[in-house]
Amino acid sequence: MATITLNGRQVEVPDGLNLIQAAEHVGVTIPHYCYHPGLPIDGNCRMCLVEIEGARGPQISCNTFVKDGMVVKTDTPAVEKMRKGVQEFLLLNHPIDCPICDQAGECRLQDYYMEYGQYENRSMVPKVEKNKVVDLGPLVVLDQERCILCSRCVRFCESVTETGELVIAGRGDKSRIETFPGMQLDNPYSGNVVDLCPVGALTSKDFRFKQRVWFLNTAKSVCVGCSNGCSVNIDHRAGMTYRYKPRHNAQVNEYWMCDAGRLSYKALNDNRLYAALVDGEEVPVGIALDAVIAKLKAAVAEHGADSVALVGSAHATLEANFVLKRLAAEVLKTSKLFGATLTPDGEADDFLIKADKTPNRKGLDFLGYDQSAEALKAAVASGSIKVLVAMDNDLVGEGGPEWAQLFKSVPFTVYMTKHHTPWAEMASVTLPIASHAEQFGSFVQAKGVLQKVMKAYDAQGDAAPSWEVVSSLARALGTDFGYDDVEQIWTDMSAAYEALNGMSFYGIPETGHQLPVAEMVGK
Ligand code: SF4
Ligand code: SF4
Ligand code: FES
Repeated sequence: MATITLNGRQVEVPDGLNLIQAAEHVGVTIPHYCYHPGLPIDGNCRMCLVEIEGARGPQISCNTFVKDGMVVKTDTPAVEKMRKGVQEFLLLNHPIDCPICDQAGECRLQDYYMEYGQYENRSMVPKVEKNKVVDLGPLVVLDQERCILCSRCVRFCESVTETGELVIAGRGDKSRIETFPGMQLDNPYSGNVVDLCPVGALTSKDFRFKQRVWFLNTAKSVCVGCSNGCSVNIDHRAGMTYRYKPRHNAQVNEYWMCDAGRLSYKALNDNRLYAALVDGEEVPVGIALDAVIAKLKAAVAEHGADSVALVGSAHATLEANFVLKRLAAEVLKTSKLFGATLTPDGEADDFLIKADKTPNRKGLDFLGYDQSAEALKAAVASGSIKVLVAMDNDLVGEGGPEWAQLFKSVPFTVYMTKHHTPWAEMASVTLPIASHAEQFGSFVQAKGVLQKVMKAYDAQGDAAPSWEVVSSLARALGTDFGYDDVEQIWTDMSAAYEALNGMSFYGIPETGHQLPVAEMVGK
């Protein structure tokens, strides 16, 4: 630790921090544009200038590191004047088109202008005009006039993706961001430059002009696009998700997320199923549940408990899979509990993107599910399964024709799903379930980090969290688990699994909790 004096106050801060981080650590904000903790320091914007006793002139705090005994001032009239000067320079050629700028409401130029604006234009020369709509690549549009040349986007492509598509071209007030000739900003992580850009120069083709950001609400969640489980914020309004933004998590995704994951929010809105189906026809959910209960009772009575198969899912939450396991063991008393999730592997890299496109295989390992596809196939092929309930698991769509054929041989299939898929039409009964934005729950990502998702909004229609649907099946079969919310599930789950060590759902840290599952089977 180092002891420094900050604005007359003696404070202790960890060694190795720069002055922006050190000040932040004790609740003092130093304004800055070009510095970003995930990028190499460039020190080009000069907004972070501060006074340091004994130094020759003002120093940039992004590239000055704490030393024991340092005396730093961030609130003097001289510092304020420097900030106003930097702000004036940055706005000299800026088009001030905030009313039509998609960054409005989350723009540092706007925010700092309120504190350090000159409020009067002293420039006598016309503003330099540049290109307003430059198509950089599949996800990103550039407005060169709004750019303050902080180089965050350039440094991201140089040091994080190492793809180097972007460059600052030209000199003086003609300087501008460009892609190298013949190149596009088209790497698997390109959308991160939109989050990095502190002003409205880089905007998202997907998000721009869909919402003003001050109308959006945010829920802390994770991306379910692959087993990396990047921490994200879900920005939503009136039951619709408008975007994912990466949320800092040092042990999972640092500051970033991939483009495929970023766009995967669309699955929360599109092609959703909100009503129950019996033989492909919409019915009230109570009627559908009654049909399931009748078939479950009849199968157990006529063919024994093992004529019922339950299939959990690496797409479903830990809580839902835990409750399904209880339904199998304590209510139906069937040994036919499976965890096979047939989602095909996809692209992977050595950064964030994982081949396994499910968010919770490790969670199924943790709960002790048998995830072997062969075991499920053998059970169904034996002809002994009379009722099969698959929770959030599109065995037919993802398994392909061979599995579709196999499931046709099961007399009664129950499919709990978020989406209209071909199996939703084919299954005997289809029950609508909530997405991960519509419930509280948790997932265990590839390295075994348990992360929670917070509910953003209610599910529409008759869709409900899977654990609720499974609990209501148990209740109708005579066993009330007494679950009204996930915290009650956690009371039982943390008692059942030593590794959870008495944890509660709300006690899971926002950046997750490492479980001892890294060595377990699965991907
Ligand atoms: S486009 Fe944005 S991130 Fe890139 S240099 Fe300009 S202001 Fe900085
Ligand atoms: S790496 Fe995986 S979890 Fe992360 S954003 Fe991409 S798809 Fe989502
Ligand atoms: S943040 Fe320090 S110079 Fe830009």
